[in-house]
Amino acid sequence: MNEVLKNIYERRSVRSYKDQAPKDEELKEIVKAGTFAPNGTNAQGLRFVVISDSALLKKYSMLAKELFVATIKKQVEKVPADKAEGMNRMMRTLSNPDFNIFYDAPTLILVLANPSCLTPVEDGSVAAENMMLAAWSMGIGSCWIGFANPLQHSPEFMAEVGIPPDHKLIAPIIFGYPKKAQSNGNRNEPEILKWIH
Ligand SMILES: Cc1cc2nc3c(=O)[nH]c(=O)nc-3n(C[C@H](O)[C@H](O)[C@H](O)COP(=O)(O)O)c2cc1C
Repeated sequence: MNEVLKNIYERRSVRSYKDQAPKDEELKEIVKAGTFAPNGTNAQGLRFVVISDSALLKKYSMLAKELFVATIKKQVEKVPADKAEGMNRMMRTLSNPDFNIFYDAPTLILVLANPSCLTPVEDGSVAAENMMLAAWSMGIGSCWIGFANPLQHSPEFMAEVGIPPDHKLIAPIIFGYPKKAQSNGNRNEPEILKWIH
């Protein structure tokens, strides 16, 4: 199998990290790989914030959990019972003070879209995958942390990490050297609805 396919098939989300942080040069390479992703009209409006301060990451984990729980609490009464069960489970996980949504990873990179992006979600998402694959090829694990999304609704957070208020947070991704061997990452067979020749 060629190296690109091998990297795609072997990448897994990593949730347990060594203390050793990736080098700045490695992180720069990962960010650069993100900028080489396809993007709508080639507007190149993605911006990045790199945070490698563990005390700050703990603080932001706490803040994100608080914001996430507050949002779920508002929604849980309006959804059907089966969905509410999942939301309640999520709320219990996020209410655990020992749960760090960033899994004690040494580095968090935020992928942001500025207003020049015509397709901010698409641009940020393809960049994110480029970054995670680039990292994996360098022996660096990653995990997209959707639990961090609510941070963009905190003006204090946005100001503290230097994000202009008109920027959208698309992908918060942690990076670091994996501590544990990863699972195989089972996938269902692709469902090709129709193949028209
Ligand atoms: C939009 C998005 C949000 C995610 N949020 C989280 C998260 O908050 N916490 C987490 O542990 N994993 C998160 N993940 C990782 C997924 O759980 C993971 O990609 C999925 O289980 C497949 O596993 P794999 O990445 O190892 O192939 C997220 C992934 C995506 C694409």
